Amino acid sequence: MIDTPAADKEAAVDVEKLRRRAISALITARNRTTLLTSCVDEPDLTAQHSPLMSPLVWDLAHIGNQEEQWLLRTVAGHEAIRPEIDNLYDAFEHPRSARPNLPLLPPKEARRYAADVRGRALDVLHTAEFHGTRLTEAGFAFGMIAQHEQQHDETMLITHQFRTGPQALHAPDPEPGPLVTGPPEILIPGGAFAMGTSDEPWALDNERPAHRREVPAFWIDTAPVTNSAYQAFITDGGYDDSRWWASEGWAYIRRNDITAPLFWHQDCGQWLRRRFGVMEVVPPDEPVLHVCWYEADAYARWAKRRLPAEAEWEKATRHDPVSGRSRRYPWGDEDPTPDHANLGQRHLRPAPAGSYPAGESPLGVRQLIGDVWEWTASDFRAYPGFTAFPYKEYSEVFFGPGYKVLRGGSFAVDQVACRGTFRNWDHPMRRQIFSGFRTARDMAT
Ligand code: AVJ
Ligand code: FE
Repeated sequence: MIDTPAADKEAAVDVEKLRRRAISALITARNRTTLLTSCVDEPDLTAQHSPLMSPLVWDLAHIGNQEEQWLLRTVAGHEAIRPEIDNLYDAFEHPRSARPNLPLLPPKEARRYAADVRGRALDVLHTAEFHGTRLTEAGFAFGMIAQHEQQHDETMLITHQFRTGPQALHAPDPEPGPLVTGPPEILIPGGAFAMGTSDEPWALDNERPAHRREVPAFWIDTAPVTNSAYQAFITDGGYDDSRWWASEGWAYIRRNDITAPLFWHQDCGQWLRRRFGVMEVVPPDEPVLHVCWYEADAYARWAKRRLPAEAEWEKATRHDPVSGRSRRYPWGDEDPTPDHANLGQRHLRPAPAGSYPAGESPLGVRQLIGDVWEWTASDFRAYPGFTAFPYKEYSEVFFGPGYKVLRGGSFAVDQVACRGTFRNWDHPMRRQIFSGFRTARDMAT
């Protein structure tokens, strides 16, 4: 028997661990995709539930098409299975509102195509080298494709939220846990911290590289802003007072007659909301959901506070004041468990503000991961040293003042696509996403 050096053995174990992780992430994503596309009938899959969203059957074939392009054609060098469909499923070729009128693969064919690609991708994965190129290093391409599918699973859940027919999805509510009893805000001491990452194997291009950021001391809310706090803003005439609003935000809510979060309406003096086909009283203790950046920004100004900058959010989440290190999650470096955070569509709503004590940061900030995407004050920009990888259309084409950064993930995103460094972005007027926020203030004010 030939002796393998210990370092090689260790590396081989790591590769097999990453390979198993990739297999399981792809399977988890496909189970979710299957659930989201099998709980409604065929007309529902091809229908346009909102001009803001694709038909569900577009997402399904687009998931397969991206997987084919990256895992089969680019990594494994296969020929295209159906080159004629690439254009249909290119997100930059057709706006979402136009997708229902394209000659899309009908549901059965879309399912068959995605399943065919997946079978071949798993064959590739079983023997793939996890080194050699940046795309294959640590199984990056497989991790990227699992994240891509999960991102579309969140997008498809948003499409479900627009559906009006009878309820199609069911999930248990979060367990009522011990809520926060401590202070309403936490002081994050000033100083530099390491933002972004250079060593998380499946981190996407916009999270890289790790770099030092100086962040002065600031206060941040212990938990996301609740529905009852947000209702106080509404009751106080927040939507009728231009003082609280950024000027484009004020113009936007006036033009579109926006007077409350999306999916809310008032009935006999009570706020109701429609959630996945069911009408319910807005739960006071839950983080507010379906607000745009302009609403979050206006609320914060009304409350004599402000949105946290992206760097502040990440420092509150990752900085360990004892070691001085930045960690993967608020609770440490271990992957999330159901005790840490509300992720993965396990529940179809956020948990009450102050839940998940096991997931709090060293200084006691809660629910930074999961529940609701949190709007930050910051535009989506490249970190110093950024290089687009593996394609400019993932992040680079979106950098600039037209997009605001959201952090932390929602109940709808899977853990493979959620970590302390993960960056999401959207236009400041978007509210169909599972977005909420928390507020901050300078130490001096
Ligand atoms: C990172 C969520 C903004 O859905 O537009 C999916 C993710 N990129 N397919 C999006 C994405 C390509 C992206 N977001
Ligand atoms: Fe996509």
